[in-house]
Amino acid sequence: MDFSRDNTGNTEVKMLSRSSLLSFLFVLSYTSAICGAFSTPSSWTRAKTQIFVSHPLPEEDMHVFGRPLNDATKEMNKKMVYGVKTLIFDTFFGGDTVERAYARFWALETIARMPYFSYLSVLHCYETLGWWRRADYLKVHFLQTWNEQHHLLIMEELEGNRIWFDRFLAQHIACAYYFLGVAFYLFNPTFAYNFNQAVEEEAFATYDNFVKKNEAFLKEQPAPLAAKLYYLEDPLFRELGSRPRPAMRTLLDTFSAIREDEAEHAEIMVQMQNEAL
Ligand SMILES: [Fe+2]
Ligand SMILES: [Fe+2]
Repeated sequence: MDFSRDNTGNTEVKMLSRSSLLSFLFVLSYTSAICGAFSTPSSWTRAKTQIFVSHPLPEEDMHVFGRPLNDATKEMNKKMVYGVKTLIFDTFFGGDTVERAYARFWALETIARMPYFSYLSVLHCYETLGWWRRADYLKVHFLQTWNEQHHLLIMEELEGNRIWFDRFLAQHIACAYYFLGVAFYLFNPTFAYNFNQAVEEEAFATYDNFVKKNEAFLKEQPAPLAAKLYYLEDPLFRELGSRPRPAMRTLLDTFSAIREDEAEHAEIMVQMQNEAL
């Protein structure tokens, strides 16, 4: 940082590299957004005790511990997820071929399933320490991660993980995202769920686009074995939501089913934000 004086005598920051300025703004905006989510001055003190209850909170306490998030925070999460997704996927996983599309989806599934692992880790930790027990939360997040794992297996069967650099990049981002997810969930579960809602909505939109653009091609391809085993036989698929088992003859059936899963994940994230934590 280089400080100098202008001709009015005021001190000004004259030189800041663009990257350090952007990093500073990113940290500042996120810190203020997360703090801004606490809508009452005393909520931080109260939150520390309220988070460990396991029964619905009374209406007047629904804003405790960051609930409800303000609209600016929700909008910022959406923009942030869209920006990061565009940056990573357009830069490193771009390309119009179907092989690059499978690589993109493989990376997306590797990264986007991480929050469920983060939630499970934190919930296990709370339970181990005897602070809070929510078996229903553990169950729903396990079913979600099981579902995402099968999306990943499908993309692997389609050879989306063939290139070493794709694997290297996606797995490193996934590891970093795991710790970010843990930090979000420890600090404010509602914020963590809202952030992941934005991720799941992006995932839905990405699959939806792909299915619409490639319908004719996908209709000609057989469904992968991993998709048949999961959607047609795995009892845990029926546990996740209320959807009946989908047809699973073609790759179009497979991608359509994954798209519906992503919509369901986003919906569950919305419900979790309205749950009393
Ligand atoms: Fe997925
Ligand atoms: Fe998902």
